[in-house]
Amino acid sequence: MQVRVKVPATSANLGPGFDVAGLALTLYNTFVFELQENGLEITGTPPQFANEDNMTYQAFAQAAQRCGLEFGGVKIDFSGDVPYTRGLGSSSTCIVAGIVAAFAFKNHNPDRQAVLELATEIEGHPDNVAPAIFGGMTVSVMDNEKVKTLNLPIKNDYRFVALIPPFTLSTEASRKVLPETLTRKDAISNVAHLALLVASLLNGDDAGLKQGFHDSLHQPYRGKLIKGYQEIMDILAQDDKVLGCYLSGAGPTLMALISEKDTLGVVRIKEELGELLEDWQVVKLELDTRGYTVDFE
Ligand code: HSE
Repeated sequence: MQVRVKVPATSANLGPGFDVAGLALTLYNTFVFELQENGLEITGTPPQFANEDNMTYQAFAQAAQRCGLEFGGVKIDFSGDVPYTRGLGSSSTCIVAGIVAAFAFKNHNPDRQAVLELATEIEGHPDNVAPAIFGGMTVSVMDNEKVKTLNLPIKNDYRFVALIPPFTLSTEASRKVLPETLTRKDAISNVAHLALLVASLLNGDDAGLKQGFHDSLHQPYRGKLIKGYQEIMDILAQDDKVLGCYLSGAGPTLMALISEKDTLGVVRIKEELGELLEDWQVVKLELDTRGYTVDFE
């Protein structure tokens, strides 16, 4: 029997919701697992990832131990479109897929909350894994190692224009530049802007979004690591049809939110940003509302 797990990309933080808010996008990685007598076989990845350190395999092995799945060996075939180390949740897709597959071999219908708990333990924060599991937009709170996630019923007519640079930025490097403490002013500013963002999204009030995406906790520090960051953000801020923009996850991808009615948005954004986007990929995405899917073959 093979277990096929398809996991959406995610965009975390959404400006002020550092380690809290995230959403799933219509870009996917697919992983096919098959148990074998012994050994590990990984196909579809660059050779440097085809070994026991592979994140998907590590998550699979940890989940197998957690749920009591005994296995001699496993084959994992990978295929997908989520760019690696670009702030679009590629590592979350690997972790979620590994856990779901192990749980699914043991019990055909894995419990999504159990997947969330282990995925958060492995990833260290819930904001990317939660939307990959539940779909849509999520907010997650960690209390004493327990994670609580809620879905926000936001409109499905936003379009997410991902501006993906040709260079990578690891989450580790991107977290290292963050200060240990914040001033009270910055802390209040983030609480206020996250509240405004969530209220605007829930009320379907696009007028509050641009301001709501404002962040003082991570973007100002991380922006310095990304060539063209400030110029791009300033130009997007001036575009009346761009509803908001933020650094996706730990970066370096920047995300511009537009309405589905803004059918020429991508062309306009590319024109406005011109050479700043040299060699960048521009991809228009929608909200994924399902989270991961699992099939048996
Ligand atoms: N909240 C995380 C961060 C997302 O910004 O570092 C990336 O894993």
